[in-house]
Amino acid sequence: MDVSRLDGKAALITGAGSGIGRETALECARRGADLVICDVNEAGLAETETQARAAGASSVLGRRVDVSSREQMSEFAAAVHEQVRAVDLLVNNAGVGLGAGLLDTTLEDWDWIIGINIMGVVHGCHYFVPAMVQRGGGGHVVNLSSMAGYHASSALLAYSATKFGVLGLSLALRDELLAHKIGVTAVCPGIINTPITQTSPMRGAAADPGVRERAVRMYQRRNYGPDRVAKGIMRAVQRNRPIAPVAPEAWLAWGIMRTSPRLGGWVARRLAAAAQ
Ligand SMILES: NC(=O)c1ccc[n+]([C@@H]2O[C@H](COP(=O)([O-])OP(=O)(O)OC[C@H]3O[C@@H](n4cnc5c(N)ncnc54)[C@H](O)[C@@H]3O)[C@@H](O)[C@H]2O)c1
Repeated sequence: MDVSRLDGKAALITGAGSGIGRETALECARRGADLVICDVNEAGLAETETQARAAGASSVLGRRVDVSSREQMSEFAAAVHEQVRAVDLLVNNAGVGLGAGLLDTTLEDWDWIIGINIMGVVHGCHYFVPAMVQRGGGGHVVNLSSMAGYHASSALLAYSATKFGVLGLSLALRDELLAHKIGVTAVCPGIINTPITQTSPMRGAAADPGVRERAVRMYQRRNYGPDRVAKGIMRAVQRNRPIAPVAPEAWLAWGIMRTSPRLGGWVARRLAAAAQ
């Protein structure tokens, strides 16, 4: 899909109230898109809408929607499809982190993270892709996986599991939608400086406030901003890439895992230990 300009095109971004979602919405706004944005964080969403209008968006449909809720996503899709026949660019971005290994992850944690990180993406695809197919005008689906979606870490065990799931779903969906000229990309960012480090629940040894402080500092020092991920997303859509690592560490981990999963496991263990 040509995203050099998006005039007259509708771009839907979930989790647009912060971080990568907000910057992707702003990038789409600058390119002339009509925006459809949602988040559970209404204040963040309102701020994104203000910034998007300042960046040139003339049409912004913003809703408080929990992507893990089948009912809310169904109602959201009905409201969107009253305005547009189908969205052109669907970015399933909303996601949450969880700093824990298996022994510290409760079944409630599993329900929560799978509900948002996997079912949120499933709902986005389920409620918005059929209209894209029926319209017959192509388009693109972007799903936010992660470097942790191919480089598993015991420090982010359930998170890694969900992001591997998003990667698999995206590759399978890409094959299915090929005949409909709809591209699909799994975007896999590395260490991106967003509020996710402050909001992710931490369990077990990682619940020590010092661990979070160190993680936040490390992300800040790394200082790779979500605006750069938004540009990476646009490049990946333009090139119709199946998998798009973003940031050097994500590319490095991609290379290591493809050459030696055993070496990848060793690196992941060293990184997990360094974070404690
Ligand atoms: N920051 C990183 O280092 C990084 C790395 C790889 C992948 N990612 C992925 O990128 C995506 C965006 O993360 P971010 O770093 O911008 O985080 P963020 O916390 O800044 O933004 C995530 C947004 O999603 C929203 N959200 C959370 N649960 C929701 C729900 N149930 N329904 C609707 N909205 C919900 C939050 O309110 C927030 O506004 C996530 O899927 C994350 O897993 C982030």
